[in-house]
Amino acid sequence: ESTDNLNSYEKMQEIADFILGQTEIRPRIGIICGSGLSGIGDLLSEKRTIPYTEIPHFPKCKVSGHRGELSLGLLEGVPVVCFQGRCHYYEGFGMSEVVLATRIMKLLGAKIMIVTNAAGGLNPSMKVGDMMIIKDHLNFLGLSGISPLRGSNEDRLGPRFPSLTDLYDGGIRQIARAVAVSMNIQHEVHEGILAALGGPSYETVAELKFLRLAGVDAVGMSTVHEAIAARHCGMLVFGCSLITNECIVEYGTNREPNHEEVIEASKNGANKFATFISKLVSGLRQQ
Ligand code: 6GU
Repeated sequence: ESTDNLNSYEKMQEIADFILGQTEIRPRIGIICGSGLSGIGDLLSEKRTIPYTEIPHFPKCKVSGHRGELSLGLLEGVPVVCFQGRCHYYEGFGMSEVVLATRIMKLLGAKIMIVTNAAGGLNPSMKVGDMMIIKDHLNFLGLSGISPLRGSNEDRLGPRFPSLTDLYDGGIRQIARAVAVSMNIQHEVHEGILAALGGPSYETVAELKFLRLAGVDAVGMSTVHEAIAARHCGMLVFGCSLITNECIVEYGTNREPNHEEVIEASKNGANKFATFISKLVSGLRQQ
């Protein structure tokens, strides 16, 4: 059931104070781990892990492939907070719950958000296991008025009418491309447009053909809401998708997407993905 009751700045401050009381780490970067991509948290040193269930007011989000805890620690020597498991809109959470992790990382002091997800590859050049640096998004929920910023504006977070121009920071994307070259995986690291759909059903063939005509490269059910909330509260945003399946854009192929294949592919790609993100964080040290 949607319980869109986390708009209170005081509640968010209470959550942030609780977390800051558990560790000396003061994160500069916040990371949201997509399905099967929580392994990034395993790379932290001086780690403190807190289950979401122990955090006051925190929504109980858990879906197959997600952990439901956050970790603070050093990644490549950089203090970070890593949210391992996210709330999805299709689970019935309200948008303020979907973006709570983003706002909490801001209150913890983070200046940059790295947001990741498992996505379906629509651009035919994308293969399972490839990555896509998000250059921009096409938000079908947002275009219809489903926004984490709906409702009275919290001026302590950000402006009523924020711009989303250059939402996905160009400088960070440039560093990420250089990281891909340094890992010699530049041929499997794409850059493109992520479309956000509501889910939890996958898209019809007609919808996918429409999205492809609109210039979409990959499709997902998350990520863009957090990106919007991060821009709203003044963080820089980097988004990256792991391509876990190829979208089926033909009728009668006897192939169809399923969650098991998504989880399997994200497990297989998780280590390389985690290395990529940690090297990026290292490259962001001077930012
Ligand atoms: Cl094919 N569609 C959507 N909306 N999200 C996905 C996906 C597809 N594959 C992984 N995530």
